[in-house]
Amino acid sequence: MSGRVEGKVAFITGAARGQGRSHAVRLAQEGADIIAVDVCAAISSNTQIPAATPDDLAQTADLVNGLNRRIVTAEVDVRDFDGLKAAVDNGVEQLGGLDIVVAYAGIGNGGETLDKTSEDDWRDMIDVNLSGVWKTVKAAVPHLLSGNRGGSVILTSSVGGLKPYAHTGHYIAAKHGVIGLMRTFAVELGQHFIRVNAVCPTNVNTPLFMNDGTMKLFRPDLENPGPDDLAVAAQFMHVLPIGWVDPIDVSNAVLFLASDESRYITGLPVTVDAGSMLK
Ligand SMILES: NC(=O)c1ccc[n+]([C@@H]2O[C@H](COP(=O)([O-])OP(=O)(O)OC[C@H]3O[C@@H](n4cnc5c(N)ncnc54)[C@H](O)[C@@H]3O)[C@@H](O)[C@H]2O)c1
Repeated sequence: MSGRVEGKVAFITGAARGQGRSHAVRLAQEGADIIAVDVCAAISSNTQIPAATPDDLAQTADLVNGLNRRIVTAEVDVRDFDGLKAAVDNGVEQLGGLDIVVAYAGIGNGGETLDKTSEDDWRDMIDVNLSGVWKTVKAAVPHLLSGNRGGSVILTSSVGGLKPYAHTGHYIAAKHGVIGLMRTFAVELGQHFIRVNAVCPTNVNTPLFMNDGTMKLFRPDLENPGPDDLAVAAQFMHVLPIGWVDPIDVSNAVLFLASDESRYITGLPVTVDAGSMLK
């Protein structure tokens, strides 16, 4: 039986770990070859999220190779358009085309109210989580067009791209901006059968969410909160009685959007949110 994205090539940023790695593996399981990019280094000093490493990206490559799919990796910062272009150009040359773009690299930093957010935190956030998404798609579009076989572009937003939360206004602004990017790219590229959608997850069990900073933000009443304490508070965000989803839950939505099963779906923010938007 052929896979749901058999014979396609996917360009994924933020692929060293977390959701990006999970998307690479899920798409490879269904027959795609992968161009995997990650900075593999810290971006912001004001964060409690440990940085991904070159070993993490190598592990992603091992997982994809273990599925008998091809993968081309590159250590690139999504703030660097020329680096992104070189990585995707090289990947396309080696793998023979491009069908899917998953612009997934992102950071968390700060944790202040907007009036106390530093200019450094604001700049890093907008440069990576908003401008980095634009640059990723900009680097990929020429290949989607020259392939002349349509394509699917999936951007990472968040439920924070659809509604606000306090203490993370720069993240909220970037993720709302990603929805605007998604809608505009969808309008501009639709005539070429290139579809553009965004995934909007709630909390996901990755280092970006599961870290000391988040635990203290959710449980300021406790001195040393742990995951169980976090779960109690995080559950209040959702209709379904869970505190977070797993990367695979988002990867299954990405796979659907990447595949021809969603061939007439474009311009949509797809929530994977345990009902968070109902609250
Ligand atoms: N974890 C959550 O709760 C959650 C919820 C909604 C949306 N998101 C979004 O999902 C995306 C992925 O996050 P994750 O949960 O997998 O976190 P993660 O920290 O596990 O993975 C993020 C990856 O992006 C990479 N990255 C960061 N900045 C980069 C840059 N400038 N250039 C290239 N690579 C870079 C990191 O090195 C890391 O490997 C982010 O955009 C995040 O905002 C996360």
